[in-house]
Amino acid sequence: AIERTLSIVKPDAVAKNLIGQIYSRFEAAGLKIVAAKMVQLTREQAEGFYAVHKERPFFNDLVSFMISGPVMIQVLEGESAIQKNREIMGATDPKKAAAGTIRHDFAVSVDENAAHGSDAPETAAVEIEYFFGKDGICPRTR
Ligand code: CMP
Repeated sequence: AIERTLSIVKPDAVAKNLIGQIYSRFEAAGLKIVAAKMVQLTREQAEGFYAVHKERPFFNDLVSFMISGPVMIQVLEGESAIQKNREIMGATDPKKAAAGTIRHDFAVSVDENAAHGSDAPETAAVEIEYFFGKDGICPRTR
């Protein structure tokens, strides 16, 4: 089915000037960018986005990292977009990510792992609305 997923190019990858290379991988896989914005997240925005991780030991470090510089946030649309994006990103820990994936090629640690992608349809819907609202998406009819 055609799905949408929320993707974030994290501060480490923005700082390394990798936005274009990462976008190229989405496009090469047939995923279309239907919304995008660069944002310097506030602590409150980052805490809200990662609220499901609030009790995890890495929560404070995660939030501090995500506000350490601008991020590029986009909505990707395409066939099985959620799973496809997760395959393109590779495992959460770059050391375990397969060769040719974004995290393997561009990231060094589980904390600074270059990209975020929604993990399921329910979270994708919540995450997309968190950053783009109900009407912030551009339909791509061709
Ligand atoms: P992300 O997909 O953005 O979702 C939560 C983030 O927490 C994750 O990517 C990692 O960058 C970060 N993180 C740090 N430590 C861990 C861990 N032990 N397990 C999962 N995620 C972690």
